[in-house]
Amino acid sequence: MAYPRCCTCIHHGWLLILLTTCLLLLTTLQASGSVLTRNFHLVNQSRSYSIFFLRTFSELSGLALAATLSATLERLKWAMVMLSGAKGGRGARTALGFVEFLALDEATTGLGLLKLLFSPSVSSFRAKMCSLARLALMIVVPVTGILIMSRVDVQPAFSPVSMASPYSGYGLQPMNASTALEYFGFTDIIFGSKFSAFLSGPSRSVDLTPESQREKPCGLNVGGADRSGCHREYFFPGDAMYIMPEILTDPRYPDAPVFFADDHRGLYLEFDAGDLNIVFNSTTDCRVYSGRYMGYQIGAVRLCVVNKDSNVLYAGLVKCPGEISIQQQCLTNLTWHQDPSWLIKMSTSFQYASVAYSRMNSSILWHSFNTSRPSTPAAVLSTDILKAYDSLLFDTTTLLHQNNTPLPLFSGSSFPTMLWLSIPDFTEDNANNPEVASTLFSVMQSLLSMPLYYCQTGMLRRLVPGLTYGDVSLNEAVSDFLSPVPPRLTHVSFAYQRFETVANSATLIAYVAVSGAAVLFCIVVRVAVGILAVQRRGYERMPDLSSFGAVNLFTHCTVEHGEQRVVVYQGQPDAVAKFEQNSVLLGWLSSLGIRWTGSRRSMDEEEMQSFNWTWNHGGHAGGRYGAPGNGSSSPSLQTLQPHVQSPEIPLAGHGGPKRGPYWGVAI
Ligand SMILES: *[C@@H]1O[C@H](CO)[C@@H](O)[C@H](O)[C@H]1NC(C)=O
Ligand SMILES: *[C@@H]1O[C@H](CO)[C@@H](O)[C@H](O)[C@H]1NC(C)=O
Ligand SMILES: *[C@@H]1O[C@H](CO)[C@@H](O)[C@H](O)[C@H]1NC(C)=O
Ligand SMILES: *[C@@H]1O[C@H](CO)[C@@H](O)[C@H](O)[C@H]1NC(C)=O
Ligand SMILES: *[C@@H]1O[C@H](CO)[C@@H](O)[C@H](O)[C@H]1NC(C)=O
Repeated sequence: MAYPRCCTCIHHGWLLILLTTCLLLLTTLQASGSVLTRNFHLVNQSRSYSIFFLRTFSELSGLALAATLSATLERLKWAMVMLSGAKGGRGARTALGFVEFLALDEATTGLGLLKLLFSPSVSSFRAKMCSLARLALMIVVPVTGILIMSRVDVQPAFSPVSMASPYSGYGLQPMNASTALEYFGFTDIIFGSKFSAFLSGPSRSVDLTPESQREKPCGLNVGGADRSGCHREYFFPGDAMYIMPEILTDPRYPDAPVFFADDHRGLYLEFDAGDLNIVFNSTTDCRVYSGRYMGYQIGAVRLCVVNKDSNVLYAGLVKCPGEISIQQQCLTNLTWHQDPSWLIKMSTSFQYASVAYSRMNSSILWHSFNTSRPSTPAAVLSTDILKAYDSLLFDTTTLLHQNNTPLPLFSGSSFPTMLWLSIPDFTEDNANNPEVASTLFSVMQSLLSMPLYYCQTGMLRRLVPGLTYGDVSLNEAVSDFLSPVPPRLTHVSFAYQRFETVANSATLIAYVAVSGAAVLFCIVVRVAVGILAVQRRGYERMPDLSSFGAVNLFTHCTVEHGEQRVVVYQGQPDAVAKFEQNSVLLGWLSSLGIRWTGSRRSMDEEEMQSFNWTWNHGGHAGGRYGAPGNGSSSPSLQTLQPHVQSPEIPLAGHGGPKRGPYWGVAI
């Protein structure tokens, strides 16, 4: 009586474990930046697709994990049944508790497991442990599914186009005040009327002010003491036109929508309210700037800047009041220099980052700081700021207005007049007015950061196209009056945008830990069962169990009761032994019928007989099973004949009480 070898069933579980491990790995990879679908352009273009793929992978691994767990529990269950039937090392043959079987059986519902776990009638510790383990394993799959999707972020990422000749751009340079002279005649154009919006321009800077601080109006209260806790932060990588001038006009890769700058040096600017205790030296730290409009000298502003640290500047701005201005005496009656100023503090540092610029409108789409290169202080001298403004605005104090001579009738820049018009007087009302105060704060931010940005070496020369006319290149020709361009250290390329799913690292670790533990459990159980099976003599391998748990039960198992091992139910192993091929077994299974036995109460004795079961109630009312071990109500089943309904498949003639469990295993 040899059982057919069935390699597939034996390796089935290991295959499942392998499949689950692979899927878990793939899910983890997909969750850490859509690694798997990185090269699928179509998939990456949409946020919802990236989520969809992660979800698909996680569901598939959940499914595989569930199948693996269930296969492992099946294996464990049958192994326990079988090993209990085997002649153990101690020579004892002890049946497995039926509740333990039920606890491991897949057909037992969650409620059934809870009953097994908590019911006092179930005394088997092993059964309770098995129920607990199965309950725990039941929630592992949903838990992993929830974990992986719980804190997933869809983040933009960029795939640079690899070009034959890599293009390099310019990182931001330290300020060079001398280059301000190059803007002769350009000042009003670059400063423009949107002066106060300089730092909020989406094409050159990113406002990184935390939301909580952005709510606070940034002004100064009377006395220069800021009580609002004003703070602003900007990452300032600069305009694409100054960073990567040539690539902007490069017609290649028209479908790549992004310019991607890697390892690009930008500025990190922080602004706070100024400090009333800062004292400006009026000769070294302050300048008065004025302009003429239609020949009239109206208005003037006084800018004071001083270094607190090499990269920390304090600045104050005060305007010539109306009553002096109306007499055109701003440059002669200097009493207004003592008026309270609007104050600001700026800290500057260099910060390396990757920056993505839109090819469509040049705005900054994305940035990411290079964490391996911490920000470094960017030294800015207050005297450099003033020197730059002297060149940009024709300082009326030092350059053209020495010795109180009248201002020329048509001075170069009208910007000081614009500035004078746009800034409010310092009054208590204005200082407490959020609109006025925050506009003024923006103006002062721009006043301090603009020379920093525009006065870099070779700023204007970068814009000169590298054209050659005859022997003379245009770029060479301007070298007499434009400063040389700095070294190109920023890597720039065309890029495609994609979206990545990035799970929070803590949840990812939890996911790997939980699902890994479940897989490990399966491996350990399988190995342990394998070793145990080998140790028990005669049970080198599991018998061929069908994938139908119910069929296995009614063919292979004998259910017995009590010390006397009264057979309650006798399996028919020979029934299946005949079916070496699955198709034959399935054919046989299809020929079987199943009928509801009906409740015991509704059956009369005759009916009972027709079922060929002989129940001896032994005088006990109801004759129902009591709790095991409870002597008085212990079942008094004496004889039970197995139910043989199918004449074609006779019971192999070995059934009977006290025979002990029979296992259709080739021995
Ligand atoms: C600053 O610019 C001037 C010309 O505008 C140039 O001669 C000088 O070398 C530059 N300084 C630095 C440090 O680049
Ligand atoms: C970050 O900086 C390092 C040099 O410190 C550089 O090698 C690396 O490429 C940079 N990373 C990015 C993403 O730019
Ligand atoms: C301002 O600076 C000048 C030049 O350094 C110096 O002579 C003068 O004493 C300073 N004034 C004050 C008030 O510190
Ligand atoms: C200067 O302006 C102030 C304030 O308007 C005024 O009181 C003072 O008389 C003016 N001085 C001269 C010399 O005009
Ligand atoms: C610039 O273009 C990008 C798409 O490339 C778009 O998302 C963004 O809103 C645009 N910005 C402005 C200011 O138009």
